[in-house]
Amino acid sequence: MVVEKLRICFLGTGSMGSAVLKGLLAAGHPKELISATTKSESSAQALRAMGVSALSTESSPDANALMAGDADLIVLGVKPYQILDVLQELSGEIGKNAVLISMAAGIQIDSMAKVLPANPNIIRTMPNTPALVGRGVTGVAAASTASKDALDATIELFESVGEVIVIEESKINPLSAVSGSGPAWVYYIIEQWEKVALSQGFSEADAKVLVRQTMSGAMALLEDSNEEPEELRRKVTSPGGTTERIIATLEERNLEGIFAESLRAAVLRAEEIAKS
Ligand SMILES: NC(=O)c1ccc[n+]([C@@H]2O[C@H](COP(=O)([O-])OP(=O)(O)OC[C@H]3O[C@@H](n4cnc5c(N)ncnc54)[C@H](OP(=O)(O)O)[C@@H]3O)[C@@H](O)[C@H]2O)c1
Repeated sequence: MVVEKLRICFLGTGSMGSAVLKGLLAAGHPKELISATTKSESSAQALRAMGVSALSTESSPDANALMAGDADLIVLGVKPYQILDVLQELSGEIGKNAVLISMAAGIQIDSMAKVLPANPNIIRTMPNTPALVGRGVTGVAAASTASKDALDATIELFESVGEVIVIEESKINPLSAVSGSGPAWVYYIIEQWEKVALSQGFSEADAKVLVRQTMSGAMALLEDSNEEPEELRRKVTSPGGTTERIIATLEERNLEGIFAESLRAAVLRAEEIAKS
């Protein structure tokens, strides 16, 4: 399967759906092969302004079935609680070989397969919003009934907006906490770090430059070197120096423990969503 030739339909095109859609457009996927649905007419209009064929359920209640009918890949970008209802709308309307790709947290492949028993190609994914700038990372888990072509097309789709990791479905909740929610971890850290800089009397503009340039500079250095973060950290940390005190304070407050607890809370929530 060559993904540039496939018709891709996004059902639910909000933060995540539009990040992948815009990433695809930026990667050169033909606009005429992309379609999308939203709830509100204003969101659909915004997509049409980008040259994508879009319908809202507000003005066309059967928008999802209409748009997905002839699609090769159907990307589900509605909220988790809506996934099974939207799949139900597709029953009898889509091709047997259509690839159903859910991006929803918590909704298991088995639950989706029960709604569309005639469709073997069900794939669960967990992307993240840097897909918007072609630097996403997406976890992909396929149903045991999915064909190799279906999995390959999904991998190709998400590789056009970043990196892909193929995993067992059992790993998708932890992956979701690490990378799906990952941008929120990073932005929250940046927020705290900038507050600390501001508290030292730096202007807002200077605090932003100090923190953001350090963040992106440190990442660029990591990507450029063959060294692990621990080694690069050591190079900044002279024995008995100031950086050593920063790391010691973070360790005393058990930053690793806080991260572990945050991840456990997210996994627990994904399990609750799956049950409800
Ligand atoms: N946000 C993330 O970083 C992230 C990361 C990984 C996975 N996800 C998953 O991605 C999914 C969407 O999350 P989100 O943050 O993108 O939510 P969102 O911004 O609220 O987007 C939801 C989209 O669904 C549309 N919609 C609502 N009801 C619909 C219906 N019945 N039929 C078709 N479209 C409908 C909404 O339309 P309007 O625009 O008109 O409201 C909106 O475009 C979730 O399942 C989430 O678990 C999100």
